[in-house]
Amino acid sequence: MHNLGILISGRGSNFVAIADAIDAGKIPDTTIAVVISNLADAPGLAAARQRGLNAVAIESRGRKRAEHDQEIIAALRENQVDLVCLAGYMRLLSPGFIQAFPQRILNIHPSLLPAFPGLDAQLQAVEYGVQIAGCTVHFVDEQLDHGVIVLQRALPVLETDDAHTLAARIIEQEHLAYAEAIARVLSGRYQIVGRRFLPKS
Ligand code: GAR
Repeated sequence: MHNLGILISGRGSNFVAIADAIDAGKIPDTTIAVVISNLADAPGLAAARQRGLNAVAIESRGRKRAEHDQEIIAALRENQVDLVCLAGYMRLLSPGFIQAFPQRILNIHPSLLPAFPGLDAQLQAVEYGVQIAGCTVHFVDEQLDHGVIVLQRALPVLETDDAHTLAARIIEQEHLAYAEAIARVLSGRYQIVGRRFLPKS
């Protein structure tokens, strides 16, 4: 059985999509062992509690990053988490966190990386004028929005789009992408060659 640890900071719609995918049997032999938010009032935390999941707030405000991260690592270990999924977790991870879970931390970002890393990716895409947008699930490494790409989904930017309407269509793709990426990683049937995520030969 695989134990997921999901880290959130806000709405948590990606977390809900992952939980729904598990319930629908799309991510086999997997449970959500813990949902952690760095903000106690994150709506996603309430959604997790409503589903009867183990949901904890580990407040980041006023804390040093490395110290806060150590507390999160302890909670993940306590719950025997073997894959960490960042789902709208709006904090950078310290190197100690990344080293504690080598190639075992995934993130979802609302752009086709390496385009538009960082904040407000959908607004960046509209302002840049790209005609294809999307989302990326990737392993987390020590650079922001940079690790090996597991899966991307693309969609057209419409002439009528603004950042808000584009984000609303990207998030639908995120929900599909994240569940599929988690299932692929947990299947273990992959190899990483250079920066490429490939089926195991
Ligand atoms: C999602 O669009 C996710 O890709 C983005 O925050 C949103 C969280 O939504 N993450 C980032 O921009 C990280 N750089 P959710 O709380 O409803 O899952």
